[in-house]
Amino acid sequence: MIKKEKFGTMSDGREVNLFTLYNSSCEYVQLLDYGASIHSIYVLDKDGKLGDVVLGVDNADELEGRSYEGVTIGRCANRIAYGKFTIDGVETRLECNRGGHFIHGGSGNYANKTFAATMDEAQNCVTFRLVDTGEGGFGCYAEVAVTFTFDDNHELGIQYNIMPHGDTVICPTNHAYINLSGTGDIRDHLLKIYANYFAPKGEIGMPMGDRSQVIGTPLDFIKTRRIGEAMKDDLIGFFSSKPCIYDDSYILDKSGFGLAAELYSGETGRIMHVYTDMPALIAFTPYAKDMDHGKGGVFYTGYCAICLETQYIPNAVNCPQYTSPIFRVNELLHSKTVYVFNVVHSEG
Ligand code: BGC
Repeated sequence: MIKKEKFGTMSDGREVNLFTLYNSSCEYVQLLDYGASIHSIYVLDKDGKLGDVVLGVDNADELEGRSYEGVTIGRCANRIAYGKFTIDGVETRLECNRGGHFIHGGSGNYANKTFAATMDEAQNCVTFRLVDTGEGGFGCYAEVAVTFTFDDNHELGIQYNIMPHGDTVICPTNHAYINLSGTGDIRDHLLKIYANYFAPKGEIGMPMGDRSQVIGTPLDFIKTRRIGEAMKDDLIGFFSSKPCIYDDSYILDKSGFGLAAELYSGETGRIMHVYTDMPALIAFTPYAKDMDHGKGGVFYTGYCAICLETQYIPNAVNCPQYTSPIFRVNELLHSKTVYVFNVVHSEG
């Protein structure tokens, strides 16, 4: 079942709609047409209680101030060194919107666009569509469709279909801030990542073509580990600053569509599995200092969430060693990520 209602009006007058997808366990996922965003994910805990496992804001006028919670990021998520890349000898210069480099789509980021929505009751899905006019320096247009499904197996599926009108880089992701306890510190969550290698950040703070083993580093989640313990177990001085923040790109072991990560909260018994056909996963643990927003009157502080963003490796467009995010004119990017929610009654 799908419900559509008005979410509110943004300060610039734009109307925002809220779409609710239910499953047969009375769980539901709420989506916004602004940013093709995941607004909430209400799933059961070990006591049979429903609770929201993603961060966000309560009101439409707070949407512009949010920190990418739940948004679709595109045309290209994460960083591109010096905001430039070359395809067949033709250089594209993008906006440098973070520290002399490009990040998260620049001014054309899908996070800040209102999409047109279509509901499909039979498939229990909502598709958000947009024409990307090449803002941010990309130039060529692209037709964008992002479809969210939610089903009785507690699976939230996200499918991207992006058709470029020229040769370009395409790397969409969803930037959900996940907390399987609802609120509180995610350092008590258990994490497993199906990756033996990561893409180390070079001198300019992003991958430059290398790969390194996770073993012996705080990035090692080959075996399930508590996030806070892995942070503390930093014998090699991996984290250059305090508080320790994960913001790293894992090169997933699987090929094709497969399991990327598992996240578990002992407090609620909720476990989430992430499946994707993307080659990489960014694990990002934002540390919120004085964040002046939240849902349900709760302001986010400290280690309030983890983002598990499926995508190409950051800066892959400039690194032939990594899977290429380059798409040619009329070459469709079709990609799928699925978050599956279940409950287990003891720590696994
Ligand atoms: C990136 C971080 C960045 C954050 C917010 C994440 O996807 O990996 O480096 O700070 O988004 O922009």
